[in-house]
Amino acid sequence: MLLLSLTLFFSSWNTFVYAGSQSKGENCTVGNNRLQFGTYQFHSDCDAQTYCSSQGTCELKGCRKDQYPFGYPPDAYIPPKCPAGQFCPDESDACQPLLPVSSPCQLNRDDQCEPPPNWQELADGSQYGHNVNGSVCLNNVCMWANVTVGQSCEVENTAYVAYAGTNEFADIVSRGNCQTGSYCDSQSLVCIQTKQLAETCDADKECSSFNCLSKGVCGSSADSPKHFGIWVYLMVGVGIFGGMFATLITLFLIHRRQRDKEREKRLQYWLEQNALRQSIMQMKEIARTSILSLGNGNSNRSSRAVSEESSTPMIQHSVHKSSGLRQQCLTDEHGREYD
Ligand SMILES: *[C@@H]1O[C@H](CO)[C@@H](O)[C@H](O)[C@H]1NC(C)=O
Ligand SMILES: *[C@@H]1O[C@H](CO)[C@@H](O)[C@H](O)[C@H]1NC(C)=O
Repeated sequence: MLLLSLTLFFSSWNTFVYAGSQSKGENCTVGNNRLQFGTYQFHSDCDAQTYCSSQGTCELKGCRKDQYPFGYPPDAYIPPKCPAGQFCPDESDACQPLLPVSSPCQLNRDDQCEPPPNWQELADGSQYGHNVNGSVCLNNVCMWANVTVGQSCEVENTAYVAYAGTNEFADIVSRGNCQTGSYCDSQSLVCIQTKQLAETCDADKECSSFNCLSKGVCGSSADSPKHFGIWVYLMVGVGIFGGMFATLITLFLIHRRQRDKEREKRLQYWLEQNALRQSIMQMKEIARTSILSLGNGNSNRSSRAVSEESSTPMIQHSVHKSSGLRQQCLTDEHGREYD
């Protein structure tokens, strides 16, 4: 929904930006200069880079009011901004000197009006644009935002067209010439002190945070960052470190179990090898005695008796101390050797 409304907004906005199709040197009618309905954006027959001159032709703009103006290709010539004490009108034909109080000015162009002598005192320090250096353009007349609480003030209500999905609705912006910290009440036309958080309100301008919530009370300003309680940070920290330590401990336990298993296997292997070594030594001993007895002229009867004798400890060893790895192999070897 938001995307759709944004798309609608930007598509209509773009057509407004590029509505003027005449480029430099082509004809135009000064009478077609106007503010577009709904957005109040300035429009002329000429394109974004030109203005309609009094001769009825489009000429390159002589100044700009925005740091980054719309409608220029990246390498195009961009007209300069105006020096201090001057302003660039919506037409952007040429810089003009600031206008004194009561002079005609253009919608929302507070910057076209001359600031009051005590402008530092009256200037709006907030980001809400209540005035520019203490001057304000209301109903196309330059004024100073110097009216104090309880005094009569002037108000200007402008209805912009806003979109919620495909629904259009009016977004009324109300401005006045009250000093910062107060607003001009549209009914009584008197300056009233702005309201603090949670006080009841009917419009954004009544709140010092410039945000009247739909439930009719002043909320914190729309761009104020969201703060989380200290417990959220604690929970996240505990979650992160707890997860880390749980993983480490689990891995440690798994590896310890595997290590123990391997150690057991190695111990059994060592015992087997030791038994095997002892068997071989015994075998050697038996061989030696049988050779000696052969040399003494005894018959093969005695050698058979010895071999029967010698096989007993071998079997004992292989039965008592064997890992799963070596058992099969050992018995095979024995079988072959002593058959
Ligand atoms: C430009 O001039 C032509 C012919 O002179 C005319 O038909 C046309 O409407 C003019 N365009 C504008 C924007 O004034
Ligand atoms: C307040 O501003 C108006 C112009 O808007 C001016 O005429 C008037 O003298 C100012 N009042 C004070 C007290 O400065």
